[in-house]
Amino acid sequence: MGNRVYIFDTTLRDGEQSPGISLNKKEKLKIAHQLAKLGVDIIEAGFPIASPGDFESVKAIAQQIDGPVICGLARIGFKDIDRAWEAVKYSKRPRIHTFVATSDIHMKYKLRKTPEEVLEMVARGVERAKQYTADVEFSAEDASRSDLSFLCRVFETAIEAGATTINIPDTVGYSTPEEFGRFIAAIKNGVKNIDQAIISVHCHNDLGLAVANSLAAVRNGANQVECTLNGLGERAGNAALEEIVMALYTRRDDYGYETNINFQEIYRSSRLVSNSTGMPVQPNKAVVGKNAFAHESGIHQDGVIKERTTYEIMNPQMVGINQSNLVFGKHSGRHGFKERLKELGYELNEADLDKAFARFKELADRKKTITDRDLEVLAEDQIRNIPEKWQLDYLYICSGTGVTPTATVRISSEGETKEEASCGDGPINAAFNALEKVTEIKATLIHYALNAVTEGKDAIGEVTAKIEFNEKVFTGRGISTDVLEASARAYLNAINKVIYENNGQNGNGAYIGK
Ligand code: KIV
Ligand code: ZN
Repeated sequence: MGNRVYIFDTTLRDGEQSPGISLNKKEKLKIAHQLAKLGVDIIEAGFPIASPGDFESVKAIAQQIDGPVICGLARIGFKDIDRAWEAVKYSKRPRIHTFVATSDIHMKYKLRKTPEEVLEMVARGVERAKQYTADVEFSAEDASRSDLSFLCRVFETAIEAGATTINIPDTVGYSTPEEFGRFIAAIKNGVKNIDQAIISVHCHNDLGLAVANSLAAVRNGANQVECTLNGLGERAGNAALEEIVMALYTRRDDYGYETNINFQEIYRSSRLVSNSTGMPVQPNKAVVGKNAFAHESGIHQDGVIKERTTYEIMNPQMVGINQSNLVFGKHSGRHGFKERLKELGYELNEADLDKAFARFKELADRKKTITDRDLEVLAEDQIRNIPEKWQLDYLYICSGTGVTPTATVRISSEGETKEEASCGDGPINAAFNALEKVTEIKATLIHYALNAVTEGKDAIGEVTAKIEFNEKVFTGRGISTDVLEASARAYLNAINKVIYENNGQNGNGAYIGK
């Protein structure tokens, strides 16, 4: 173990439990590939018993991702554990992560079990998992509000039964750094067989203390930290991976611990998760926010120009934020465009490259200066996770004061073209109604957000549209310098996901989107 902290990423499990997030198998696989590039030690790929979709995603990740340990979550019952194993067994490095609550309040009201019954469940559950794999993690849910001496007995029992990692979650984000640090030290001292297991922590951010609590735990003996990209997770989220690893690195003089993270991949990982989930990153978010390395005041700007470290404790390039303002314009060629994308880490196939290049030319007509950020946005928009049935060919919107907004849309698919018009309460609503009419998909818009992703009056606008269809949420994303077009593209992207997931059928077996 030494001075190494293992990074256990739970973006695809606890992160996906964030309200309004729903990722399909392709999106999860893509994130898992990126997590492997990022260098996380363990990927918690999902909760296999939760749904057939989750099971299939964990199985696919176990089959396809090499490098990190692939972990599946299971409650302590045999059915959950067996199901988790069925999904993770394809990995070269499978882990079963099983849990049960140990606080009085959870045992009494949620589980309706006595402490002795819970101890028995821990022993039987861990033994069951151990029959399948040598790598078993046990979590005591709501550990931070559990009785310390009981908790120590629980961990002792789990280790005796074969757990190789014991996880101490601050499930409800109630702890404080000093208290949590003392708690970890007490467990380390109080569990007789602790030397046979890795101590892990899993902190939630209800009081905004998840990262601070995790770091306090590391100081007091934790060797594994569970975290998520962009701090996604239940309620206020989990400890943010990028903050934990950059704090450990930047203040290595103070902590003295290392991780295996490839820092260069941090920003790209954060963008991918934000794009796939439709959860924007707040501008002032540490490490990956748009303003994390922006200097507004003249004094700061002057200082940074003279010597970057006057106001920057981290180097943006180090986390993969490319700040080159190399100007691209309408005279730039396809080859240069391709090379620059490659340098930025985007390798598009020829067909996607053609489409991205065409959109780049359109953008260059509308926007004076094209920066790396613009190119990144274009590339990200082109790399779709699913084959898109319909493309937006044409959008015409008529709107104004005292005018009923109307929209006409034309879409195409493999030589077939369809057109429809519709009115709406506003221009965006009119465009959405026209798209529903032309694709024959009636969905409910549950969330709409517009963000300027690049700078200036001619900035690229990014729209996220979440729609509900047959009780499932689909997230669409669209970009353009024209916000109406970006909105239509986002809505059509969400509709294309509905069509893909339903194999071209609606819930009643009738073909949709034809
Ligand atoms: O927050 C929590 O307690 C959890 C456990 C399942 C590890 O997510
Ligand atoms: Zn959690």
